[in-house]
Amino acid sequence: MRAIGVTEFGGPDKLEVVDLPEPHAGRGEVRVRVHAATVNPTDTGLRAGLRAQALQQAGLRPPYVPGMELAGEIDEVGDGAPWLPGEQVMAITLPVSPHGGAYAEEVVVPAAQVTRVPAGTDLVHAATVPMNGLTALLALDALGLRAGQTVAVTGAAGALGGYLVQLATTQGLRVVADASERDEELVRSLGADHVVRRGPDVAARIRDIAPDGVPGLVDASVQLAEVVPAIADGGTLAVVRGWDGEPGRGIRLHRVMVMTAAGRTDWLDALRRYVEDGVLTPRVARTFPAEQAPDAHRLLEAGGTRGRLVLTF
Ligand SMILES: NC(=O)c1ccc[n+]([C@@H]2O[C@H](COP(=O)([O-])OP(=O)(O)OC[C@H]3O[C@@H](n4cnc5c(N)ncnc54)[C@H](OP(=O)(O)O)[C@@H]3O)[C@@H](O)[C@H]2O)c1
Repeated sequence: MRAIGVTEFGGPDKLEVVDLPEPHAGRGEVRVRVHAATVNPTDTGLRAGLRAQALQQAGLRPPYVPGMELAGEIDEVGDGAPWLPGEQVMAITLPVSPHGGAYAEEVVVPAAQVTRVPAGTDLVHAATVPMNGLTALLALDALGLRAGQTVAVTGAAGALGGYLVQLATTQGLRVVADASERDEELVRSLGADHVVRRGPDVAARIRDIAPDGVPGLVDASVQLAEVVPAIADGGTLAVVRGWDGEPGRGIRLHRVMVMTAAGRTDWLDALRRYVEDGVLTPRVARTFPAEQAPDAHRLLEAGGTRGRLVLTF
């Protein structure tokens, strides 16, 4: 079967079409005939070698296949997996696992990592939901805020940030989000109560809205120390790329890692319903035939993409 992988780490041109043995669904697993796989920042990291140690420690051998979410049609069902061939699903996939990533014609995933495609949503848009949706739910869960409290979201125009704004709003939180001038309307349309100008002084802008600081902040723009002053004493900072820093002032640091929520079928089902109810909006910037993955990686790394880039098989 055709997949997109790297045998050597490096730039986008290291992504190549590879021929891999057809996988088969084991007990509790399904095989998905992939139609769409999204391109995320973590994929460019895997390609560049940032996950080399984890891949080796997992005993995996090249070619390594990136990709953390997909949508397609089930075409093989392992014993005990509650699915039927032909059902359209979306799933989170883990490239640092024996199943490999989503950039492949056929991907086997544990049934717990799968949910139905939202009614009325095509496979390309559905593919953008599982990984970033679970990340957003995980980050908000880590903050532990109650309805009516305020959350700040940076990187709000991005794929993860947009889901954070929408899901926080749905949970009854008051949302302060950042945006450049050109993204302000977009971020407001996602439900942010207050939009502040993005940039290195974003914390001061958030304090203008919340003078005592916010009780929770999700740093989807990965500004780390720059955002800490926005948080109230004893509040919570959720970071999405790890951080060795120390926020101080009794602020709790939570390092979000979506793989810890990969088996949260209940959350995947909730995300499906949010899309069906129109409170979560999958955004697609552009699709590429899978063999053009190097172009998609170049575009993502250039920055400024609004909505997800999606590879089609
Ligand atoms: N830990 C996990 O489990 C997990 C899961 C999912 C995602 N993530 C991480 O979450 C981050 C966001 O992912 P994404 O898919 O949403 O990326 P994205 O779509 O590229 O969004 C990132 C947003 O942040 C903005 N931004 C970047 N640097 C900034 C800065 N210095 N100041 C202000 N804004 C800045 C970007 O603007 P421009 O486009 O204009 O640069 C963009 O709007 C990535 O680092 C990703 O790896 C982690």
